[in-house]
Amino acid sequence: IPDHYEDALSSVLIPHGVIMDRVEKLAKVIVQESTGPLVVCCVLKGGHQFFADLVNYIKKNVTRGGKTVPLSLEFIKVKSYSGETSGEVKLSLTEEECKDFAGKNILIVEDIIDTGKTMVQLLTKLKQYSPESVKVASLLIKKTPLSNGYIPDYVGFSIPNAFVVGYALDYNEYFRDLDHICVINDHGKQKYAVKN
Ligand code: PRP
Ligand code: MN
Ligand code: MG
Repeated sequence: IPDHYEDALSSVLIPHGVIMDRVEKLAKVIVQESTGPLVVCCVLKGGHQFFADLVNYIKKNVTRGGKTVPLSLEFIKVKSYSGETSGEVKLSLTEEECKDFAGKNILIVEDIIDTGKTMVQLLTKLKQYSPESVKVASLLIKKTPLSNGYIPDYVGFSIPNAFVVGYALDYNEYFRDLDHICVINDHGKQKYAVKN
C-alpha cells in the first residue's frame, strides 16, 4: 500500500496476488471456450488493469490441447447518464468503428458490475451492430439491492456491498494506482473528495 493511501483504507478485500491467480484462471477458461478470433474490448477507465492482465495471460496461455486464440484489441469509454430518466450510455467509438463489430466474437472486459445499468445498455448498443457473439468478463460483481439482475459470462469475484477501490477502480479518479482491491474508509472519502 503506497503511503498516500495508507490512512484512507479500512481493509484489503482482495490482495493483488489473489487477483492475478484468478485472472490467470479466467484467461484459461476464456481460451478453452473460444470458438475463433476474439475482439477483446476494454471498458475504460476502470477496466484497463483487468484488461491488461487478462490479455497478458491469454497471450501466455497454451491449454493442454495447445489451443490458442488470436486477439484484436478495442477500447471504449462509456459515458453513463444515470441521473437522467433514459439512463442512456454514450459510446466513444464512431459509427464506422462500431460497424467493424459485425460478425465478430466480442469479449467485453469490465472491472465491476454494480447496478448493472452500464453493461445492460452497452450490450444493447453493441448488439445493434450484428456481432457473431458478445460475452462479458467482469472482475467483480457487487451484491447490491440496486442490481438489475445482470450476471456476466465470466466473473472474477463476487463482493459485498461496499465501496471498493484499487486495481483501476477509482474514487474521484484516485486509487487507480493501487495494486490491491480495498475498501475505502471515511477519512479516505474526505481526503480524496472532489475539491472546488
Ligand atoms: C464504473 C465501473 C463500471 C460501472 C459499473 O465506471 O467501472 O463501468 O461504473 O456501474 P453500474 O453497474 O452501476 O453501471 P465509471 O462510470 O465510474 O467510470 P470509470 O470506469 O472511468 O471509473
Ligand atoms: Mn467503468
Ligand atoms: Mg469510476
